[in-house]
Amino acid sequence: MSKPKVFITRRWPAAVEAKLKALYDVTLNEDDRPLTADEFKQALQNYDAVCPTVCDSFPADVINVADKRCKILGNFGVGYNHIDVDAAKQQGLIITNTPGVLTHSTADVAMTLLLMSARRGAEGDRLVRAQKWTGWCPTHMLSTDVTGATLGLIGFGRIAQAMAKKAHHGFGMKIVYFNPSPANEYVVEDLNATRCQSVEELLKVSDFVSLHCPGGAATKHLINAERLKLMKPTAHLINTARGDVVDSQALIAALKNNTIRGAGLDVYEGEPNVPEGFLTLENVSLLPHLGSATLGTRTAMGEKVLANLAAYFASEPLPDRVA
Ligand code: DGY
Repeated sequence: MSKPKVFITRRWPAAVEAKLKALYDVTLNEDDRPLTADEFKQALQNYDAVCPTVCDSFPADVINVADKRCKILGNFGVGYNHIDVDAAKQQGLIITNTPGVLTHSTADVAMTLLLMSARRGAEGDRLVRAQKWTGWCPTHMLSTDVTGATLGLIGFGRIAQAMAKKAHHGFGMKIVYFNPSPANEYVVEDLNATRCQSVEELLKVSDFVSLHCPGGAATKHLINAERLKLMKPTAHLINTARGDVVDSQALIAALKNNTIRGAGLDVYEGEPNVPEGFLTLENVSLLPHLGSATLGTRTAMGEKVLANLAAYFASEPLPDRVA
């Protein structure tokens, strides 16, 4: 029997690409270049499974392409707001994702950004590289204390809880969170966490606000000009979730006007383009969507996709089906 045909949109770590080659008639993107909508349409027409990742856009007009052979999108990533889920459902296209394995690496990057923003890490690095540092003095580059401060988490899933643990047990931070449903009682007890009744309530009491809600229409510009004004003028905003959760122009204005003290961003509206206003601001730390970017995590994400494909082709229940 011939092997199923599988299409991979971007390079994966070598160990998981090797497994794909052994198991499937696989086409890899050897050049690792971003593919076009037409190339995605052709992949849907010619392969049994297509494995996109978070930077590949699969809107309805791609998904609705005629004469599809593909039955499953094995997404390499936990977020899947780049795929039109309703269109996929209508077309009977299964979607799987990669939850669980990127929890700690993403929480680590959220914590990195929190520390960079609080302690002006990126700004200090730029100063030293520009050879503008004139020496230690008692008032140079004073910054914000992290230990003992209040961390507010919007969304309280796996990644938020992992960050809360590091912040509470490592830095003695007080934890507050906003989530549609209350967290598990053991988690709440371990973290001594307080649930806020609204985003507004959380913004008012937090020294650091970290975003962990999914992207998409329901959360677009959840953090807007009005809500930024509710934050303490000394507070910092951290975003490792999705760029469009924050109104970029409102955040740029808030950083310029000192409505808030700083921000740390790993994700952007319209990435990889970063809104220009951020580039000249000293009080924003910018990373290129590094949340899950460790070799171990990216390999584990590939293993997750492999497990979903294996289950699909064996007609077994899918471990991580989201649609
Ligand atoms: C995901 O998997 O959704 C992450 O954003 C990748 O880092």
